[in-house]
Amino acid sequence: MAEDRAYYITTPIYYVNDKPHIGHAYTTIACDVIARFMRLDGRKVFFLTGTDEHGQKVEKSAQAAGRQPLEFCDAGSANFKELAKALNISNDDFIRTTEPRHIKSSQAIWKALEANGDIYLGSYAGWYAVRDEAFYAEDELTRNADGKFVAPSGAIVEWVEEPSYFFRLSAWADRLLQFYEANPDCILPPARRNEVLSFVRGGLKDLSISRTSFTWGVPVPDAPGHIMYVWLDALTNYITAVGYPDTNSEKFKTFWPADLHMVGKDILRFHTVYWPAFLMAAGVAPPKRVFAHGWWTVEGRKMSKTDGNVIDPHDLIGTYGLDQTRYVLLREFPFGNDGDFSRKSVVNRINGELANGFGNLGQRTLSFINKNCGGVLPAPGARTEADAALLDQAYALPEKMRTEMGLQAIHQALQHWIDVVNAANRYIDAEAPWALRKTDPARMGSVLWVLAEAIRCLAIAAHPFVPDAADKLLDQLAVAAAARNFAAIGPQGALQPGVALPAPAGIFPRLQEPAA
Ligand code: MSP
Repeated sequence: MAEDRAYYITTPIYYVNDKPHIGHAYTTIACDVIARFMRLDGRKVFFLTGTDEHGQKVEKSAQAAGRQPLEFCDAGSANFKELAKALNISNDDFIRTTEPRHIKSSQAIWKALEANGDIYLGSYAGWYAVRDEAFYAEDELTRNADGKFVAPSGAIVEWVEEPSYFFRLSAWADRLLQFYEANPDCILPPARRNEVLSFVRGGLKDLSISRTSFTWGVPVPDAPGHIMYVWLDALTNYITAVGYPDTNSEKFKTFWPADLHMVGKDILRFHTVYWPAFLMAAGVAPPKRVFAHGWWTVEGRKMSKTDGNVIDPHDLIGTYGLDQTRYVLLREFPFGNDGDFSRKSVVNRINGELANGFGNLGQRTLSFINKNCGGVLPAPGARTEADAALLDQAYALPEKMRTEMGLQAIHQALQHWIDVVNAANRYIDAEAPWALRKTDPARMGSVLWVLAEAIRCLAIAAHPFVPDAADKLLDQLAVAAAARNFAAIGPQGALQPGVALPAPAGIFPRLQEPAA
């Protein structure tokens, strides 16, 4: 079925006041890898990223910078667009919440909530954290060293008292619980699901969804002085991009509900409680899944501007290379956990797995063919047990990786890939084609063909992670562009002997170890 093959994936939209750092890069790369993986697997993908541009935080940051809000947003948004380009991100759209299509969509969802009787006018008196753009109940707060009230995130809260519209969130707790119950995988990893379940079981309070003490936001329809609460506006981006309020459009019908909203653990509640409640109240289906990943620390410490240890992804690309950066961020620790960025570990990983592991496998096989077979791919002979074992393992990659990627177990998918890289390196050592050159040239040819064939499968499977390097290797194997997908992994896509191969070149140079 065509619709089942469609796949809609989103990153959070990033606040324009921040300079892009490793955390943003991480989320976006993870989504890009999943999007590319799904495309290779023949699915029709829509991959969305963008910027979150309204609210008090952005308004204050613009003021502090002495800029008009929109001018400030233009510059901030451009930084994230630039980052996506630098990271070789394959997004299909980039949404900005200041765009007319989004203002229209946000006002339309507001009207739908209102028509459903889920909005009423009241006044808010309580705590608000501008940094999180979130309201907090007093019992969630603690005092910091200066005696100021802080939210669980560490953000300082301030007292807010103003007229406000409310969303009847309290009325949605049971329906949310039924939704979680009926869709066991709608929140992953499981620990995050449990967190959300216990929060909702504890009862929900109505949510303030308009602000009146500043102006940088989407105007509430027919309510002068009110602008929409930035999270209602921001979450709506996910349906704006597929055409909301036109729910009959081809795009909306094809891609909504989204298959995956990827978020950091910090914004779980907004995506798994408020968002499905807003959608259900507006008569729109909730997303199929929200996956909350963990956070990075740097050399064992929390990343912070004051500590000056914020990592700029552009520096990583400059130091380690683009594909190496993409790979290593997803490989350092299990996806879903928190993890630490350590330069030493990153360099060891890149050298061990990419330079010595996969890169060297390609390099030694292809330069051997180049030197000893006149640059022409030799023909395979009768298949030995060792040949069949390696090929079977390589041909099984799509299925194994598909299962893991379907659960966003990105690290497990990579592990299957590395297992085959290691098996191929063991195979070349055991079969020793260099020794066969004199004793049994036909068998040497066979071994080289098996290796080249395994490398072909490995390069296709690695493509979502390291697209440039994978393409370079596939060029060196003379694999046609149309055959670079999962349907070609298997005997049906096998390399044709007798084909002249271009001169080989290394794909992953060895990096210098950092000084201790
Ligand atoms: N604008 C909101 C999201 C609205 S989505 C409708 C927002 N933006 S943000 O720019 O502050 O952060 C977005 C995401 O960046 C986080 O959820 C998380 O995915 C990622 N990260 C920010 N810092 C991070 C780390 N230190 N480590 C890993 N990811 C982190 O929240």
